[in-house]
Amino acid sequence: MPTSHRGETANRMDSKSCTEKASSAITPPARRATRPTIRSWLNQWRSPWRAAIIPEVTTENTSTTTATSPAAAAGTWTLGDLTVNRIGLGAMRLPQTGAAFHPDAPPRDRDQAIRVLRRAVELGVNHIDTAAFYFSATRSANELINRALAPYRDDLVVVTKVGPGRDPSGAWIAHAGPEQLRGQVEENLRQLGRDHLDVVNLRILGDAPVAERFGVLADLRKQGLIRHLGLSNIRPHHLEEAQAIAPVVCVQNPFGLGTATAEQGELLRVCGEQGIAFVPFYAIAGAGRERGAGGQEPEALQALARAHGVSTAQLRIAWTLHQGPHVLAIPGTGDPAHLEANVAAAGLRLSPAELDALDAAHRADTR
Ligand SMILES: NC(=O)c1ccc[n+]([C@@H]2O[C@H](COP(=O)([O-])OP(=O)(O)OC[C@H]3O[C@@H](n4cnc5c(N)ncnc54)[C@H](OP(=O)(O)O)[C@@H]3O)[C@@H](O)[C@H]2O)c1
Repeated sequence: MPTSHRGETANRMDSKSCTEKASSAITPPARRATRPTIRSWLNQWRSPWRAAIIPEVTTENTSTTTATSPAAAAGTWTLGDLTVNRIGLGAMRLPQTGAAFHPDAPPRDRDQAIRVLRRAVELGVNHIDTAAFYFSATRSANELINRALAPYRDDLVVVTKVGPGRDPSGAWIAHAGPEQLRGQVEENLRQLGRDHLDVVNLRILGDAPVAERFGVLADLRKQGLIRHLGLSNIRPHHLEEAQAIAPVVCVQNPFGLGTATAEQGELLRVCGEQGIAFVPFYAIAGAGRERGAGGQEPEALQALARAHGVSTAQLRIAWTLHQGPHVLAIPGTGDPAHLEANVAAAGLRLSPAELDALDAAHRADTR
């Protein structure tokens, strides 16, 4: 196995961990020194509403690792045995500008996409979310990741997902059945240039049962093609169904300020209770979904962004990260300036009053 590919025993950690720190604004790395325990972090920001969704996290789950990069400013979380900084990068925006999956979306400049990926890693991002079906006419997210980052650093965790598929023209095809999943996993391996995948999420469509397909992925895991398994776009009952077959290290679901349903809030809470990472998508894009960001923002969000001298996108990321230490952000961008801003948002700390104001806006918009 090439040295660039992580061995099964490398980076092993015994338990879930999360590290945190406190500051009052976006803090340059050099000023990061002390960090409270997770319990004090939670107590500091716990509001009645947040108390309902953030589980108690025992101090056994904390780590004293010192933050060394901008992406570490919000602490770390461990996916199975793979420790990642809580601010990551979503690769769905890399292959094109404008709406994802749109047949007329202009392919993104290749050098710009590669620059974004390399800069992300320089900033300490070590959690990249991708999929083989993230492609435009002439760009593939997996190919860009391979080109930019191989040979891969040992601490880089690339998470991919299977289930959905697109034909070469880009048209969506039916979600993969059990017999197609191995092929989808192998497609990711080929495109990424890996011999195993760090984490594979099974993405569900609607209320489809997961057991048979999750079982296929569990077998591939036993065979060493996959290190850890997750779920995406699920409803609460899917989690239990999958856990009867194999451990689930993450749940990737839509969740953003003003756009999360009660069911998504419930999943966020359950994941926290069980030590499973909750990885929201559309945390910035919100109702814009594949089309991307740019909708009208709630007044409370705009006012607070002005007060902090940050963008509403940064504030959305910060609010997301404040939902619990098990929440990992994967803001999607192919824009170098947006990448810098998004990573810097990991250092943005919100006071209880500020969180209450954003929570109120969240509840008002999701009513
Ligand atoms: N499991 C699933 O079913 C699923 C579904 C969707 C997405 N995902 C994953 O989740 C990731 C995140 O979702 P997403 O990319 O759709 O949405 P997102 O992160 O919520 O928002 C991305 C949109 O916001 C813009 N943006 C990013 N940073 C910005 C900033 N600092 N200021 C202003 N605009 C900014 C992006 O445009 P620019 O490119 O111009 O920055 C893009 O339009 C995806 O990349 C993908 O990896 C998973």
